[in-house]
Amino acid sequence: MTRVAVLGAGGGIGQPLSLLLKADPLVSSLNLYDIRGAPGVAADCSHIDTASTVTGFHADNLPKALEGAEIIVIPAGVPRKPGMTRDDLFNTNAGIVRDLAQAISEHAPKAHVLIISNPVNSTVPIVANVFKKAGTYDPKKLYGITTLDVVRASRFLSEVVPGTDPKDITVPVVGGHSGVTIVPLLSQTEVGKGVAGADWEKLVNRIQFGGDEVVKAKDGAGSATLSMAYAAAKFTHALLRATRGEAGIVTPAFVESPLFEKDGVHFFSSNIELGKEGIAKIHPLGTLSAEEEKLVAAAIPELKKNIEKGVKFVGA
Ligand code: NAI
Repeated sequence: MTRVAVLGAGGGIGQPLSLLLKADPLVSSLNLYDIRGAPGVAADCSHIDTASTVTGFHADNLPKALEGAEIIVIPAGVPRKPGMTRDDLFNTNAGIVRDLAQAISEHAPKAHVLIISNPVNSTVPIVANVFKKAGTYDPKKLYGITTLDVVRASRFLSEVVPGTDPKDITVPVVGGHSGVTIVPLLSQTEVGKGVAGADWEKLVNRIQFGGDEVVKAKDGAGSATLSMAYAAAKFTHALLRATRGEAGIVTPAFVESPLFEKDGVHFFSSNIELGKEGIAKIHPLGTLSAEEEKLVAAAIPELKKNIEKGVKFVGA
């Protein structure tokens, strides 16, 4: 019996994510919450012929939506419009995420919490600090979802190396989830290590700013929703497998991490091994090329700024 709750289930990501979770045989109960539209999405998904039950909750019913949830996925908040950075969303989304985290600390303090709402580099520290204040923080169960960067890296790399299939390519994408903080370690993949020079630069830039392609193409109607829903469902499925006891599941996520503590960066994305109780192990970055070292060095100050902004928002 695994209950998954989606907060923001009525939105562009929330709806297809709810659909994909309804189709996941490892989900047995799905709670859908939004300030608008969740009961409709729930009624719709509930007709799908998988065994799980689906319940929709109105805006004033958040505590009930969280009850018994083991995994909580949060895509609540506003998305980018053309010309905006993820940081431009801070003012609106920081408060939304803080209030949802507060409710989680009261009604589902033991749940795994998966943060999609941007800016992830700041919203994850916000949630951590709300939980800390409430005395419910378990760093092993809080994840910033960077899976879309991993998905994009695999797809975009396969496009530049003819004859390859993205399903056979896994690129560790480390750092954070915005612009220069997104660092794909192409040298660590068989397919990617041959990409060099201008081709490498172009590919890295596309992975870092791939989200902008979607924002631009949607022309004011939002950012990535379908590919993001796919990515979040993929991460959730990996976590479900791990919590059921499957060993050796490794994927990147933006988590509290010792890797760059020496630089004052307390959250970082790198490969993590998932286990029954959440994060079982944080992998080091491994061997980097000289160019990748430079990318990491460029990511650090930006990450530090984003993380501090989140921490400051909640206050000591
Ligand atoms: P959207 O505007 O289509 O949907 C957001 C939903 O959140 C709406 O249904 C809205 O009613 C709901 N919402 C707002 N306040 C809420 C609250 N207090 N409680 C519950 N629900 C609330 O936006 P979309 O496209 O689904 O994006 C959602 C977030 O995901 C944005 O912040 C976006 O930047 C982020 N995102 C993150 C990605 C990642 O890789 N981590 C990739 C793409 C988007």
